[in-house]
Amino acid sequence: MINSSIELRQPELEPNSEPEAELFPSAQVLPMQCYAPFSGSPLSELYNMDCVVGMKHYPDKYFDLAIVDPPYGIDINSSGRLGHYGGKKKWDNTKPLVEYFTELFRVSKNQIIWGGNYFDLPPTRCFIIWDKQQPEDVSFASCEYAWTSFNESAKTFYMRPQNADIIRIHPTQKPEKLYNWILSKYAEKGQRVLDTHVGSGSSRIACYLNGFDFVGFEIDEDYCQSSEKRFRNAIKQQRLF
Ligand SMILES: C[S@@+](CC[C@H](N)C(=O)[O-])C[C@H]1O[C@@H](n2cnc3c(N)ncnc32)[C@H](O)[C@@H]1O
Repeated sequence: MINSSIELRQPELEPNSEPEAELFPSAQVLPMQCYAPFSGSPLSELYNMDCVVGMKHYPDKYFDLAIVDPPYGIDINSSGRLGHYGGKKKWDNTKPLVEYFTELFRVSKNQIIWGGNYFDLPPTRCFIIWDKQQPEDVSFASCEYAWTSFNESAKTFYMRPQNADIIRIHPTQKPEKLYNWILSKYAEKGQRVLDTHVGSGSSRIACYLNGFDFVGFEIDEDYCQSSEKRFRNAIKQQRLF
């Protein structure tokens, strides 16, 4: 699945920024790990690597919007709260360090951060709730919270997880429709979106189908492979209609 022939698209340089060679001292590492099947428009790149390392390759404010869903540090996979969707992987044992947030805020103009209630972030007027429309006695969280950098009224997205994507390949997969809704409210067509923790790739599919350039990072190779497969199928389906 790894496509080593794809060239990394060099980000446009900001006025007065460093020369390209200075900005991308190890850019040759990235194309070897790029899963991106499409270098056309919109751009869609997935990198199988640590996002903190990956973000260092991009200039300040390169991305218009970061929509991210980092580990919350609650070991959700073995908590029992995911029922049969839980697994053995340990990616949720620790949450991102300060360095992650420093890089995230450096490379993006605006941010939507799922699990914002677990991280040390400034107060915000504009948070997002995903209301899962569940009965009160469900074992898993009946809603999720995202911190955002926008100065607007808070908003709620309503959707039962049971009515979300039919193909489920990740224990904490967020619905593609949630990302469609976010893009319709907080982004403008043609903008450049970053997801630092791609997981199932719902964000990537939503971005591609809605005409947004996308760069994503995912550290786990299994998730990269399954999300790449899911992405290709989604694109194929769309072309049939
Ligand atoms: C909460 S899940 C993301 C779920 C995703 N939003 C979805 O809809 O499927 C977090 C993901 O981050 C990945 N991850 C953990 N640490 C990472 C890192 N340093 N860099 C990139 N990915 C990482 C994990 O493997 C996991 O798939």
